[in-house]
Formats: sequence, structure tokens, C-alpha cells
Amino acid sequence: MDRNLALEIVRVTEAAALASAEWVGRGDGKGADQAAVSAMRECLDSISFKGTVVIGEGERDEAPMLFIGENVGNGESPEVDIAVDPLECTNSVAYGRSNALAVIAIAPKGKLLHAPDTYMEKIAVGPEAAEAINLNASVEENIGRVAECLGYKIPELTVVILDRERHEHLIERVRKTGARIHLIADGDVSSAIAAAMPDTGVNLLLGIGGAPEGVLAAAALRCIGGAMQGRLVPRNQEERERAIRMGVKDINKVFDLKELAQGEDIMFAATGVTNGDLLKGVIFRKDGASTYSLVLRQSSGTRRLIESDHYFKAGHPVRILDQ
Ligand code: FBP
Repeated sequence: MDRNLALEIVRVTEAAALASAEWVGRGDGKGADQAAVSAMRECLDSISFKGTVVIGEGERDEAPMLFIGENVGNGESPEVDIAVDPLECTNSVAYGRSNALAVIAIAPKGKLLHAPDTYMEKIAVGPEAAEAINLNASVEENIGRVAECLGYKIPELTVVILDRERHEHLIERVRKTGARIHLIADGDVSSAIAAAMPDTGVNLLLGIGGAPEGVLAAAALRCIGGAMQGRLVPRNQEERERAIRMGVKDINKVFDLKELAQGEDIMFAATGVTNGDLLKGVIFRKDGASTYSLVLRQSSGTRRLIESDHYFKAGHPVRILDQ
């Protein structure tokens, strides 16, 4: 794939982040999400590729835009599969909390797991501890091995976990090992990537979050060189059947990183909407805004942290405050 595509897709996440950041703290998650989806959808069609959404806003009858199977881009080659979360952490935007991102990953056709909209049990680390993780082993064992690989004593290790009732037992067990816990209200895409990058203050992601978010994080980790495993956790029979319809043969299977996101030509871009473990959020000025993005390209291993200044007088984006 043309290496410039990586820089094209960051425009898409910047547009979605700018549009949804207008809604920060307004208590309206739906409005924030719609703004991100419309901005991302519009921007995608200006890119030279023939993209098919494999992870998006839902199935065709559930989502007006960016539904699974929708074609995006200007229709020219290359043919790629696209995973998007125009607004990861809708509630964080609605209530002015942290970790919200606009995210996209692209990969050659057929290389991203078609994850159904259900939960996934996840474990993610950086490259130094890639050999240490095993979703079939106990939490204690994983923590011990990760600490060893990183050259830490267990109390020096920080584990990031979504603050959910379903994680009560997990949190108790992690605490007993002596490791620190960084609890997040939302946003395990951001935290999985942060766990795989140096100097972010978190070393290991554990727990159950969204399955589509798992594939997006995996795409980023393929570029960074980290490691991740995931196992689907359907909440009911309907979700189990949906997973099977989407091609998952063994519902209890532990997917490793290369099964979540295959191939050697993955590109990933994320722009912060609110401040988080990984990126700063959008900062508005009188005449525009600044955005902070991470762009990753697997084949070169390049990591770009892009700070952009946008001027609204140049015509974009439409501000809700002006409507
Ligand atoms: P949404 O933007 O879809 O709300 O996702 C936010 C998030 O925190 C994800 O990062 C995480 O994977 C998922 O929700 C966890 O789901 P739940 O809130 O149901 O526990």
C-alpha cells in the first residue's frame, strides 16, 4: 500500500475528533457520536482507495453510516479493509472524561478479524514482554512473567483495567499480587496501546472490553510490535450466533495478535478527543483548534506523533456553536 495512505487516514481521525470534541461535556453522547461518524464518513471518500468497512458502527440495518460492508473511498486501488471507531468513548465526551479517541485502521483485504459487537477478554503488553502473556494462564502468573520480562519487581508494575463491576474479582487478585492498578472509566483502545508503548506509566492491560475495540488495538500493536491476546465473551445466545455468522468457528478460541490483525501492511491512526493515557485531546482556540494524533505504519515501523493546528476560517469543520 502507498505509504502516503497513513498520512491520509490521519486527516480522517482529525476530522472526526474535531467534530466530536465540540460536544465534550454537553451530556449528549449521541450527538457527539453522530458528529464523529458524519465527519469521518465524509472525509473517507476523499481518499484514494477502495475500502470496505469490516469493523464499524454496526450491521447495515443498525447504522446509517459506516456500517459493516459499506464501501468507502474514491473507489481506486488499493483494495483495503477498514476498521473504524469514529468516537471511542462516547460517554467520556458526553461527560468530559478522559481517553476518548477517533480511530481507524486499514489493512489489505481479509486481514482484520471480523469481530462481532460483543465483549472480548484481553491482555496486552509491549514488545519486551511479548512472550510473557497467556490468556489461558492465571492472572498471577501473567503478572509475574510480565514483571520479570520488563525487569520490574511486581510492585513496580502498573496494570490498567476498565472500572467495571465485572472486574471486581480481577481487581482483587491483581491487588493481592502487589501490582499497582490504573482504573479507567472508559477507553481500552487507548490503554492497550499505552500499555505497549514506553513511558506511558502503564505496563499491562487486563480485562473485558469491546471486541471491535480489541481488533483496533491489535492493529496498532502489530505496528508497534507489542503483544495481545483476546477471547470473545458473548453476553447471550444472540451474540454467540452473530459471532458464528461473522465467521468465528470456535467461540472459546484465544486469538493471538496475528489472528486479530494479520498481514504485514497495516496502518493505524488515532486522534485524541479528550485527554487520555495515550494522547492529548482537542484544544480549541478562538480561531481554530489543535489536535494530537498517533500514526503508525507496520511495514516501516514508523510512529508519528502529529500535532496539527486547524483554522476554522479556512472553512472546516462546521462548529455546532455557529449553527
Ligand atoms: P464506547 O465508545 O462504545 O462507549 O466504548 C467505550 C468503552 O469503554 C471501550 O473502550 C470498551 O472496550 C468498552 O466501552 C467496554 O464496554 P462497557 O462500557 O460495556 O463495559
